[in-house]
Amino acid sequence: MGEGGLLRLEHVTKRFGGTVAVDDVTASFEPGVIYGLIGPNGSGKTTLINLMSGLYGLDRGSIVLDGQHLEQRRAHQMASFGIVRTFQMPKAFATMTLVENLLVPVTGDHRREGLAALRGQAVEVLEHTGLEHLADQPAASLSGGQTMLLQLARALMHEPIRLLLLDEPFAGVAPAIKERMIATIRRINDERGATVLLVSHEMTTVRLLCSRVAVMNTGRLIAEGTLDEVANRPEVVEAYLGKPI
Ligand SMILES: Nc1ncnc2c1ncn2[C@@H]1O[C@H](COP(=O)(O)OP(=O)(O)OP(=O)(O)O)[C@@H](O)[C@H]1O
Ligand SMILES: [Mg+2]
Repeated sequence: MGEGGLLRLEHVTKRFGGTVAVDDVTASFEPGVIYGLIGPNGSGKTTLINLMSGLYGLDRGSIVLDGQHLEQRRAHQMASFGIVRTFQMPKAFATMTLVENLLVPVTGDHRREGLAALRGQAVEVLEHTGLEHLADQPAASLSGGQTMLLQLARALMHEPIRLLLLDEPFAGVAPAIKERMIATIRRINDERGATVLLVSHEMTTVRLLCSRVAVMNTGRLIAEGTLDEVANRPEVVEAYLGKPI
């Protein structure tokens, strides 16, 4: 994925027992680009995002953001550097309202405005994402797709957003909500200047949003290019369909 840039992964490796879930991944991410990350089930996409967001510690390798080594940092520290994420299994605080859910990641940040201003910002973000009519409802009342959208709204509360990591945000999401998510991702990229790494099995959406696509298989990055370029590579076809007999 090019040299230098916003964020660089060097020899990033993570094992679970005998499984090498992420195997010696080296890649660079340029600022302002929307990247796709695709690959068969179990190829290591979520694990890579878990490493990049500080949820898991690396067994080997480094994560360098603007020249600064971050591989020892925990998730909340990664978030304060602007590495923000959503989860494949959507996470929300079920008994808290949507507004309260949005306030969770920011109220503890001493660099931020007071609570009233943050609350105003949360309402604005809910308006942008079309969830404002549910602002005072508990998150437990949301559908799966709305919870995915809430995760994206929560990501929008961060300042700065340097790198937005999205793990299967469209899985099981109804078309109308998906449209809103796509518009929101575009706006985060355009207006906030965020680099995006989108993990998705939906090739139509990957084609729509991502100018560059990386492919993982058995923990390794095996191809990088436009979706059409990587889709024609024999190693990618083989990763998805198996070796020709
Ligand atoms: N916490 C864990 N403990 C043990 N093994 C794990 C753990 N997380 C992932 N793995 C293993 O690591 C490998 C990569 O899994 P990962 O979830 O990263 O793949 P993925 O590409 O996100 O798959 P999917 O497309 O199904 O979401 C798999 O073999 C998986 O079983
Ligand atoms: Mg996954």
